[in-house]
Amino acid sequence: MSRPIVLIAEELSQATVGALGPEVEIRRCDGADRGALLAAVADADAVLIRSVTRVDAEVLAAGSRLKVVARAGVGLDNVDVPAATAAGVLVVNAAQANAVSAAELTCGLLIATARNIPQAGQALKSGQWNRSKYVGGELARKTLGVLGLGRIGTLVTERMKAFGMDVIAYDPYVDAAWAARLGVQMLSLDEVLAASDFLTVHLPRTPRTLGLIGAPELAKAKRGIRLVNVARGGLVDEAALYNALLDGHVAAAGLDVFAEEPCTKSPLLDLEQVVCTPHLGASTWEAQDRAGVSVAESVRLALGGARVPDA
Ligand code: MLT
Repeated sequence: MSRPIVLIAEELSQATVGALGPEVEIRRCDGADRGALLAAVADADAVLIRSVTRVDAEVLAAGSRLKVVARAGVGLDNVDVPAATAAGVLVVNAAQANAVSAAELTCGLLIATARNIPQAGQALKSGQWNRSKYVGGELARKTLGVLGLGRIGTLVTERMKAFGMDVIAYDPYVDAAWAARLGVQMLSLDEVLAASDFLTVHLPRTPRTLGLIGAPELAKAKRGIRLVNVARGGLVDEAALYNALLDGHVAAAGLDVFAEEPCTKSPLLDLEQVVCTPHLGASTWEAQDRAGVSVAESVRLALGGARVPDA
């Protein structure tokens, strides 16, 4: 009997392949190459992706044998979940696997925006010993605004409290009493914007959150705010952020995600006060092993006809 075909459309850890086991045939393609994806998915029983591969109605139609779409990460914004459900295709993700890694990168970018670490390092490597240009500010006793107090927002809160930051948050779905136990005051979005010295975004990308922080919201923010986004591009309007950085209303930004990815050309990348990384939030060996193994196990269960527990 032929083995089910599992298509790996993006770079996944070796542990992922191990966890899929010998009962499946593994094939690979570059999910960013639409033609290659559409051709390869035709024979696949399952497809494994990260954030680059777009699984929409066209891919689902091409994958007439597909039973599972597995996203080795938390965000499902690159998967048309209603279309998959309508086609009878199960969508699984690894909701917990990347949280620590994403939170740690967020903390790194918060510190980097406060202390100009990449800029000063780059200048030094190019031969400039410039101490006065790169004076920064402390995090202790500053206010951190967290937009989205889910898993990652909570981990960031716990870590930045260890730096002595006061944390306030906006999240319409979070219970204020629970947040209080974490030492976080829940406020409205406008209140968080007005009171924060640093702001970090931890929301999914949905039609409701797209452009959540635009020009009017940035205008309500405290002058000199430093903003970090390790969640999803497009939550912060990039043109509005650029203008706010240019006029100094936003003092600095730490960006791991962009509205269109890959992003190698953006006016934001030309600003010295922007610290950036190419969507590395989940890119640690540990997170990739956890996410890959988690979705591989879900795929095995689903292909074997068993119930897949929540990730
Ligand atoms: C996630 O949604 O967990 C990340 O974007 C995963 C990734 O980097 O592929």
